[in-house]
Amino acid sequence: MCGIVGYVGKRSASEVIIKGLHRLEYRGYDSAGIATLNDELNVVKVKGKVGVLGELVRKKKVKGNPGIGHTRWATHGEPNDINAHPHTGAFRRFALVHNGIIENYDVLRQDLEKKGHKFEGDTDTEVLAHLIEEIHELSDIDFFQAVQQALLQVEGTYGIAIIHKYHPDQIIAARKGAPLLIGIGDNEHFVASDASPIIEYTQKVVYLEDEEMAVITSSGYEVSTLKNVPLTKEVHELAMNLEQIEKGGFPHFMLKEISEQSDTIADCMRGRLIVGENRIQLGGLDGVLDRLINARRVIIAACGTSWHAGLVGEYLFEYLAHIPVEVEYASEFRYHEQLIDERDVLIVISQSGETADTLAALRKAKKRGAMVLGICNVVGSTIARETDAGVFTHAGPEIGVASTKAFTAQVTVLTMMALLMGRENGMISDDRMQELTRELNEIPKKVKDILKDTSHIQEIASLFTYAPNFLYLGRSYNFPVALEGALKLKEISYIHAEGYPAAEMKHGPIALIDEHMPVVVIAATDHTNDKMISNVEEVKARKGRIIAISSNGQSKVARLAEFNINIPEVHDCLTPLVAVIPLQLLSYFIAVNRKCNVDQPRNLAKSVTVE
Ligand code: F6R
Repeated sequence: MCGIVGYVGKRSASEVIIKGLHRLEYRGYDSAGIATLNDELNVVKVKGKVGVLGELVRKKKVKGNPGIGHTRWATHGEPNDINAHPHTGAFRRFALVHNGIIENYDVLRQDLEKKGHKFEGDTDTEVLAHLIEEIHELSDIDFFQAVQQALLQVEGTYGIAIIHKYHPDQIIAARKGAPLLIGIGDNEHFVASDASPIIEYTQKVVYLEDEEMAVITSSGYEVSTLKNVPLTKEVHELAMNLEQIEKGGFPHFMLKEISEQSDTIADCMRGRLIVGENRIQLGGLDGVLDRLINARRVIIAACGTSWHAGLVGEYLFEYLAHIPVEVEYASEFRYHEQLIDERDVLIVISQSGETADTLAALRKAKKRGAMVLGICNVVGSTIARETDAGVFTHAGPEIGVASTKAFTAQVTVLTMMALLMGRENGMISDDRMQELTRELNEIPKKVKDILKDTSHIQEIASLFTYAPNFLYLGRSYNFPVALEGALKLKEISYIHAEGYPAAEMKHGPIALIDEHMPVVVIAATDHTNDKMISNVEEVKARKGRIIAISSNGQSKVARLAEFNINIPEVHDCLTPLVAVIPLQLLSYFIAVNRKCNVDQPRNLAKSVTVE
């Protein structure tokens, strides 16, 4: 999704901003732009990459301070130079960048057109710029108040940053529904949509909340509500460092993040899985565990990969703790929200902590009195701040658009939660707990073993690089892994792929199987193994090209398959943590072979902040 970075201070604003925009590239975008102030308002914007913008900025010798920059992920209006941000209004006295969607932009635009405003492009943001201009030009209120009044008229979501020719040394920022933070430096300040563009300058940040505005200067910042009530904001320390957001010698962030998983799973369990004492300790759930265990209903809501982790969670909670769970797409949950009340618990899962649909689900459930727990990666994110309690995944920043280490960390948290609840409600005996905690503790080492030699997966990837379709089959805990494997392949290599519970294959997808169809079979779950063997036979009988993911215990599947990727043996309920790794690698290698932009796949955004 769109990204914002702004700077006011003693450095070259354009340098800070171009570098910052590069750091924001991971969010997904299709155009980029920058505005700075010296005597003039300098605006440069282009369709395409930040690299191209940077070249132009250097060529044009864009100087000045303060400055704001933007990466745009098109929602209203195609990606082109005109629709790129910043937008200036007719008089070019100020420049505005915006994340989010102004939903009533059409009505506002028609009204402004009647008043004589001429629009260059098709964006909702340009309408906001003209609205501010209209209010400011026709009244004697100052510019800040004009922005305030304009924002009170818009419906929808925004994170904005504005610079004005007659207010040098100042950035105005405001937020509703789209994240924005202020970075605090020494006689310099930053504004950004996430911490990645400012992390090398400061660790101190203030998070703006909805309907808050700020005036940011080199020497300080003032925050107030949209209705002008001054606020004192808490200063937070960022829990990330620069190294974590750089590639560290890997060709892509995705490969770096896949390779980190042995460490990130271990980090996620550190201080929480206490093997010697046969227990799990999740401080974030202190005081809410009873309500969770005794809830009338437990619902998990999330999107995409996080939703797949939620599905694994359903199996884990039900098998280990005997707690029934419903898993909902956050975007669909809103239509069922009236069935939730204070007797229920909603668990939202989100890597970014900013996904708009997941946030909407959280807010709806809270409004109806339910307790809302979060499983989030980004500390300080909106979802993390708005949930009643929760558990951080501690996977470190995930920059590759395709989620990898966040998934395994989410599943690790869900496993620990299931164990904790199962112990608490007496469903897991001492012996079983011992066996499961020991095995869980071994997972990082087993993940490392898979990652040690990936050549076999690379060979398989080269054979199937140009396959037009893939089918992924799994059962039980590994049905969600099949969905996740298919999603990874689709999003980064643009190959059509579908994931199915293996037995469902007979109810339709089997018609697709012929000698050209690669079928990835995740045959790593013991208790469904016999049934899986039958499914593999069915695929083989139709000449499907079977790629099995199996452990030593499933040697029959390995023999039937054309290719077998061996994974270490683990307890059934822990297989998703190991089985997903070869699937991530398979899609990574295929995407690289197809010369796809692995870290920034077309049309995708890392953090989906629009509904
Ligand atoms: C897929 C992927 C997306 C996200 C989804 C939810 O690789 O990354 O499907 O999982 O957009 O994002 P979060 O977890 O940030 O809420």
